[in-house]
Amino acid sequence: MPLTHMADMLNHAYRHGYAVGAFNVSNFDFLEGVLAAAETCRAPVILNIPESHLKHDNFEMLMAAIVTGARRATVPVAISLDHGTNMETAVRGIKAGCNAVMIDASALPLDENLRCTKTVVEMAHACGAAVEGELGYVPWVASDGGEKPAEEIAYTLPAEAKAFVERTGVDCLAVSIGTIHGLLHGTPKLDITRLNKINEAVGIPLVIHGGTGLTDDQFRKLVAHGVAKINYYTALTDVAGTSIRTQLQNHPNGSYPQLTSGVRDAISNQIERMMRLWGSGGRAAEVLQRCRVWQEVEQIAFYEVPENMDEAQVVAIMHRGQAALSATPGIRKVRTGKSQQPDGHYRYYWIIRFASQEAADRYRAQPSHLQFADKTLRPISTELHTIDYIAI
Ligand code: 13P
Repeated sequence: MPLTHMADMLNHAYRHGYAVGAFNVSNFDFLEGVLAAAETCRAPVILNIPESHLKHDNFEMLMAAIVTGARRATVPVAISLDHGTNMETAVRGIKAGCNAVMIDASALPLDENLRCTKTVVEMAHACGAAVEGELGYVPWVASDGGEKPAEEIAYTLPAEAKAFVERTGVDCLAVSIGTIHGLLHGTPKLDITRLNKINEAVGIPLVIHGGTGLTDDQFRKLVAHGVAKINYYTALTDVAGTSIRTQLQNHPNGSYPQLTSGVRDAISNQIERMMRLWGSGGRAAEVLQRCRVWQEVEQIAFYEVPENMDEAQVVAIMHRGQAALSATPGIRKVRTGKSQQPDGHYRYYWIIRFASQEAADRYRAQPSHLQFADKTLRPISTELHTIDYIAI
């Protein structure tokens, strides 16, 4: 079960001078391609889920596959919500299975970025999840082509970065030193002197967004100056597209499976090269040994109600409780049910799945818990047994 705490993973990379790749997972080919590369290289890896996916109905479905893939892996994997813009999506990301969130309030004025990031850090840390903040602005390539970025770059200022990290408590910081999301014509110019100053000022793992299009030498310099996480995506969509076009040329009437048959390997090969270049290849065993495994906790409650209590009343209480608890940060799932044995003892149960032990501890002090457990469930229970289990 090598789902691993992202903060531990990045601290290991930062201390040992390598960078972990964070790759957007937009469908099954990407999920399989990223995980296959990590297994081949024996590298820790981060699966990035862009916030834009939350708009699609299939977000929870995709997340279920991602969590399953991460749990099956034999290398350390973290799952991070990428470019989250507010508290609501950060909570939803953790609920769906992310164990890290990026809060990107970098387009806002500094004081608003600070406030927004700090509140997300408080919530996420209370759930055990790591947080990446961003200071300065990394623009995106204009949608009509890659000649220049759509907006101005706002470079990260080292002094501001220090204050930002101290005041927000982020675990890692995305910085703006010249990279751009997407592929520009020509190589971006990077301000390595600035990166060096930021690194000396903050002393925590730094993150580079817009990894596509950088040269090998630029990557080496980034890693040598504190970059421990590199976000990389457009190049993967390019190799996937090239693979499909090549198949189409060779098989003009090819079926869907035929045309897409090379996509997974194309993604995987590209990532393998990056993992070796960034130095994360071969690090899986150390990371597994030194970093905390991410473990969910399930609280199971069996309870009994008075003999004469109407079942419809019990069901209504269950539904009310489910609705209230499901919205609590750090709770992944709430299930309720009734015994199948006619003469059974403890006729009803609750199972609450928490993202982590921290989330379970946080829950006990939450108004939703006090309201539900103390004011609703306990008063109707003639017997109640509650046990916390680590999910295996
Ligand atoms: P590229 O698409 O430029 O590699 O950037 C990816 C990224 O930064 C995702 O957050």
